Amino acid sequence: MATIAEHSRSILEAAWVDDPGYTAPNPHRYPWQWLWDSCFHAIVWSGLGDARALTEMRSLFGLQLPGGFLPNMGFQRDPTAALRMWRHRGRSDITQPPMYGHALRVLAERGVDVSELLEPAARAMRWLFDTRLDPVSGLLRIVHPWESGCDDSPRWDGWISHHYSRAGFALRKWFLVRSLRLRDGAASSNPLFEVCPASFNALVAFNARELAELTGDTDLRIRADRLVDALERTWDADRVTWVDIAARGHQRPSSAVRTLDALLPLLVSGDPGHLEAAWRAVFDPHQFWRSHGPSTVAANEPAYQPDQYWRGPAWPQLIYLLRIAAQRQGHGVTAARLGAALVRGAERSGFAELWDPETGRGLGAIPQGWTTLAAEVAPRLQLRMPASARSSPHSGVAVAD
Ligand code: GLC
Repeated sequence: MATIAEHSRSILEAAWVDDPGYTAPNPHRYPWQWLWDSCFHAIVWSGLGDARALTEMRSLFGLQLPGGFLPNMGFQRDPTAALRMWRHRGRSDITQPPMYGHALRVLAERGVDVSELLEPAARAMRWLFDTRLDPVSGLLRIVHPWESGCDDSPRWDGWISHHYSRAGFALRKWFLVRSLRLRDGAASSNPLFEVCPASFNALVAFNARELAELTGDTDLRIRADRLVDALERTWDADRVTWVDIAARGHQRPSSAVRTLDALLPLLVSGDPGHLEAAWRAVFDPHQFWRSHGPSTVAANEPAYQPDQYWRGPAWPQLIYLLRIAAQRQGHGVTAARLGAALVRGAERSGFAELWDPETGRGLGAIPQGWTTLAAEVAPRLQLRMPASARSSPHSGVAVAD
C-alpha cells in the first residue's frame, strides 16, 4: 500500500514539465505554470528530498521582469498561447499571492541552497510595495480577481451588478483583463476593479516576513509590519473578520462576507483578541468547520454553496496555511486538527483541487498538485483511498465543479 508521500510523488512526477522545469497544477486543466501553485509544489518537492524543489522556484523566477514584477502565469511551453488573453508572449500581465517568501524559507531550512533567488525574491516584494500601495488604507491593491488566487470569491460580488453565476463571472473576468492598465509591462491599475483584500495583504505580509527572516532585510520587515498594522485597522468585531477595502478607502457591501481566506491574517496578526475570535470562527460548526474540513465561505452566509468553486468548498492550500499559523502560535491541537482535515480531505477526494466540505466529494481538477501538501502533514501515513482513485493518479480532470 502506498504512503501519502509516495502517492504525492507520483502525482507531481506525472505533472512535471521538463522544460523549463515546473509542475503543472493539473496536466490537463492547468498545463501552464502558476505562481503560488509552484511555491506549494516546491515545498512538497523539498519534503520529498527532490532537487526539483529548486528547479521549480528557478523557473518561476525565470518569468520575472527586470523591475521585479512576477506574473501569475508562465506559458513557457507555448509562448504565443499567452496572447489569447494577455498582451505579452509567454506570460500574464497580472500577479498572484507571493508565496515564494515562505517557500524559500522552507527550502532553506531543509538545506536547499536558495541564495541565487533571494535578491530576485526581494525585488519581487519591493515591486509589490512600490507599485501597489494604496496611500489611504496603507494596504496593497489587486487589480483583477485572479490576483487574489480566489477568483470567484463572494467578496467580489460588490463589483457585479447582477447575481453571481460562474459563466457570468467568467465573462466579467475577461472584461476586467481588457480594462487593465499596464506600466512597464505589468498591470498597475484597473478603473473597474481595485481592492485591498485582507487575504492578499495577509499573504504579502507573511511572505515578506518569511523572506526577511532569511535575509535579515530590515526595510522589508518594517514594510511588512506596517502592512500588518493597516490590516488590523480593518478588523470588524461584529462580523469577526478582516474586511477588504476598495481602493481609496471605500467599502462595498460584499467587503465583509465571511470567507476563510479573509482570516489569513491569522498568519501575521499580533492582536490576541483578533486571533482568538478568528480561530473560534474557523472551528465553529455553524460557520467554517464542516464534516470534511473548513469551508471557504462560512456556512451561515447567504452566498454559501459547498460545491461551487470559491463559493464554499474546502481548499487544501488554505488549510495548509492555517496549519502553519497554528504551528507558529504554538497551538498544537489546532494544527493537528487542521492537518487531519487536510489529509482526510485529500484522501477522500482523490487529491482534488478542492472538495465539498459537507461530503468530501472531489471537485475541480483531480488530482491537483497543491493537494500533495498532505504529504507535509503525514508523509509516512498509508493511504486509505479507494484503489480506483489510487491507481490512476494521472487521469486528469475527473469531476467538474
Ligand atoms: C484556479 C485557482 C488559482 C490557481 C489556479 C491554478 O484558477 O483559483 O488560485 O492558482 O487555479 O491551480
